[in-house]
Amino acid sequence: MMNGIIRTLAAVVLGLGVIATPAHAAGTAQKNAEDYDFSFEGPFGQFDRAQLQRGWEVFRQVCASCHSLKYLRFRNLAEPGGPEFTEEQAKAFASQYDIVDGPNEEGEMFTRPGRLADAFPSPYPNEEAAKAANNGAVPPDLSLIVKAREGWYYPWYISPFIKLVKGNGGAEYVRSLISGYEEPPAHEEAREGLNYNPYFPGHWIAMPQPLSGEDVEYKDGTPNTLKQEATDVAAFLAWVSMPKMEERKKIGLMAMLYLLVFALLMYMVKLAIWSKVEH
Ligand code: HEC
Repeated sequence: MMNGIIRTLAAVVLGLGVIATPAHAAGTAQKNAEDYDFSFEGPFGQFDRAQLQRGWEVFRQVCASCHSLKYLRFRNLAEPGGPEFTEEQAKAFASQYDIVDGPNEEGEMFTRPGRLADAFPSPYPNEEAAKAANNGAVPPDLSLIVKAREGWYYPWYISPFIKLVKGNGGAEYVRSLISGYEEPPAHEEAREGLNYNPYFPGHWIAMPQPLSGEDVEYKDGTPNTLKQEATDVAAFLAWVSMPKMEERKKIGLMAMLYLLVFALLMYMVKLAIWSKVEH
């Protein structure tokens, strides 16, 4: 009886696994991202401010030459729950970018220095320019990439089971992808304009290895190894994807506390009411 149940469960889980990773059949199975305990995981997990600030440095100094973050406003950098730069710092970052604005009274577009209310600009004026600069591949906007690569976005009490079947996703995927470039194995033929990365579905990615370690000077003295930089930028992109995560978890906790107190109260009411009934 018990064996039967376990076997049925295993079949369901394996079945899910097969459906979820069709690449297995083609022999180009995506390598499972390395497990990593980010500070923001779990029901109480919060972002590490210093890490978000380092990740922002990596993003703006390296990734921003190809990728946009169209849902990030410069003012978000100074808001609670994020890297929490001061407003002066956020303003200074914004002013380093040229933003296309207009039209003015003559009907012409013009550029001006960025302000807090501006979104982080794209390095290319349009998709065609992005394609032309990257061998025909468009670097995707990274505002929601961590959520998009989570695969299945489930709450924390379900995600461990999904991880068992689907592998690690989200920030762990970005971290492994960025720090996981390799020489292609002997049986793989080199492909022009593409780079070998076992964590990428299909293994050949148009993005050249963006980091190699010591790319960014960290002001807080953290060693700027490849793994550290990849971890920090992955955490930063997780925040950009989920800017209200800390607030959401706090509200969730308050709601649970409220329900607990309410349940106790109701139990006491029940005792009081039924104490008058003979039984
Ligand atoms: C030289 C330009 C360039 C730089 C610099 C660059 N990227 Fe990319 N990136 C690309 C291109 C092009 C793609 C599309 C790859 C493809 O679809 O094959 C891409 C794709 C991605 C993806 C999506 C992968 C997927 O699963 O679809 C992520 C995540 C990413 N880049 C993160 C980063 C991060 C983080 C940095 C900075 C450390 C960075 N990139 C720097 C060009 C770049």
